[in-house]
Amino acid sequence: MSDKPTMTTTAGAPVPDNQNSITAGPRGPVLMQDYQLIEKLAHQNRERIPERVVHAKGWGAHGTLKITGDISKYTRAKALQPGSETPLILRFSTVAGELGAADAERDVRGFSIKFYTEEGNWDLVGNNTPVFFVRDPLKFPDFIHTQKRHPRTNLRSATAMWDFWSLSPESLHQVTILMSDRGLPVAPMFMNGYGSHTYSFWNDAGERFWVKFHFKTQQGHKHYTNEEAEKVIGSTRESYQEELFGAIEEGRFPRWTVQVQIMPEADAEKTEYNPFDLTKVWPHGEYPPIDIGVLELNRNADNYFAEIEQVAFSPSNIVPGIGHSPDKMLQARVFSYADAHRYRLGTHYESLPVNAPKCPVHHYHRDGQMNVYGGIKTGNPDAYYEPNSVNGPVEDRTKLEPPLKISGDADRYNHRIGNDDFGQPRALFNLFDDGQKKRLFANIAAAMDGVPDEIIERQCKLFDQIHPDYGQGVRNAIAAGKQERPAAISAAE
Ligand code: NDP
Ligand code: HEM
Repeated sequence: MSDKPTMTTTAGAPVPDNQNSITAGPRGPVLMQDYQLIEKLAHQNRERIPERVVHAKGWGAHGTLKITGDISKYTRAKALQPGSETPLILRFSTVAGELGAADAERDVRGFSIKFYTEEGNWDLVGNNTPVFFVRDPLKFPDFIHTQKRHPRTNLRSATAMWDFWSLSPESLHQVTILMSDRGLPVAPMFMNGYGSHTYSFWNDAGERFWVKFHFKTQQGHKHYTNEEAEKVIGSTRESYQEELFGAIEEGRFPRWTVQVQIMPEADAEKTEYNPFDLTKVWPHGEYPPIDIGVLELNRNADNYFAEIEQVAFSPSNIVPGIGHSPDKMLQARVFSYADAHRYRLGTHYESLPVNAPKCPVHHYHRDGQMNVYGGIKTGNPDAYYEPNSVNGPVEDRTKLEPPLKISGDADRYNHRIGNDDFGQPRALFNLFDDGQKKRLFANIAAAMDGVPDEIIERQCKLFDQIHPDYGQGVRNAIAAGKQERPAAISAAE
């Protein structure tokens, strides 16, 4: 008798033989009655779930948020009060590549955090950039189509990307960051994270403030050039997983300084730029970042699939003291993510251990596929509707968010009119030293390989409006690239 546990079927019956199928004679075909074989094959067929439609390739870990600063006058969120410590899970990702994509590719990186607060889960689903390519959610699926494969060639299309970008000047800020050094970090711990959108804080007095979240790497910024990244990918496609998992296993815990920028509610009417426009930052000179604490990653997942693949973040997850804003993109994301999770993971995705809040949960949703919490989450089998007189869970009006002031006629307003798409990218361009500018031009030239001349020129004219040196720098880099290319390839074009 072995002291090892007995292997069983999923129904709990002991498995007498896990080496040999039931066959008709030693050489014969298998019998349909071999349910153990059928169960094994059937489970294998169901081991994959749909990959995320964007941000499919990711790396993550568990950690903690420790609050050291005092922003209690802005927010009542318990997780943000001085001294508070909140467990969290963070998933980094690339946007365009599929689940098996190489890690060291030039792309925006996702920076998604789920804070398991005592008032419910708060998700901040940001990127390693403070801005985004589009400012109207109607353009998000179009933009993503240009990042994914061409329907006919099944190849990524540089032409589609630059065609779209050159017709969408609001993308210039993000394109400049993507093509700069910061567009290709060495590993997740060497980049910043940004909540990107404007959110709100609200306090006990019912006052609202606008807020932006920043996570500044304490490991320093480290980037690959395109050439370095090609060598890395040639030797390993999993460089981020290796670096992040390895560092945490060895006790080298990555940390980020957490900062907020705060804008009084009434200022939103006064700023030159729309503070709810996701293609814009709030200049630090006007709204200085305030240090509020430290985020640390200190525990690897025990099971990648259960914890990193099945984790489901959504900007709709906020807690008392934190609110949304009129940002059109944020409004659309509040809908889109939970919808994606119901498709990717199932109706009761929030019951999966990695998504389950670590505070009491009471709601009246019922039944449905994979209801694993015993039918109803009210703690009382008779309380399956509300209001009721059987002491079922009730609302708590002390947690009511102050009214969000909005006004205006419902219409489709042209967001490309009256918006300066050049000033902030110019401020960024002016921060770059000569070496950074040279690499920016070279990275853009490389990314434009094979793109028709008229699209390139349309894009360069946009770069000219940021700074004449920008447009000219890209044109020169393209010309230099053509000269360097072997004659046979040039002739074939
Ligand atoms: P500041 O000079 O006060 O801030 C500059 C910010 O830019 C710093 O946070 C710095 O981040 C970041 N930065 C520095 N070098 C680079 C680089 N090579 N690539 C990307 N980011 C870099 O000026 P402003 O606040 O007026 O911003 C100027 C421009 O800087 C903006 O138009 C925007 O493009 C960019 N930026 C601004 C941010 C903001 O929230 N205001 C945030 C990030 C970028 P770090 O401290 O990590 O070095
Ligand atoms: C993932 C939609 C804009 C960051 C996703 C997913 C969807 C989606 C459907 C897949 C979710 C899943 O299956 O788990 C949208 C829409 C947007 C938008 C409709 C605009 C209207 C943005 C912006 C950011 C962002 C502006 C960053 C500031 C992310 C990140 C992930 C993600 C980081 C991966 C989350 C994870 O790690 O699981 N997005 N997105 N998205 N998105 Fe967006």
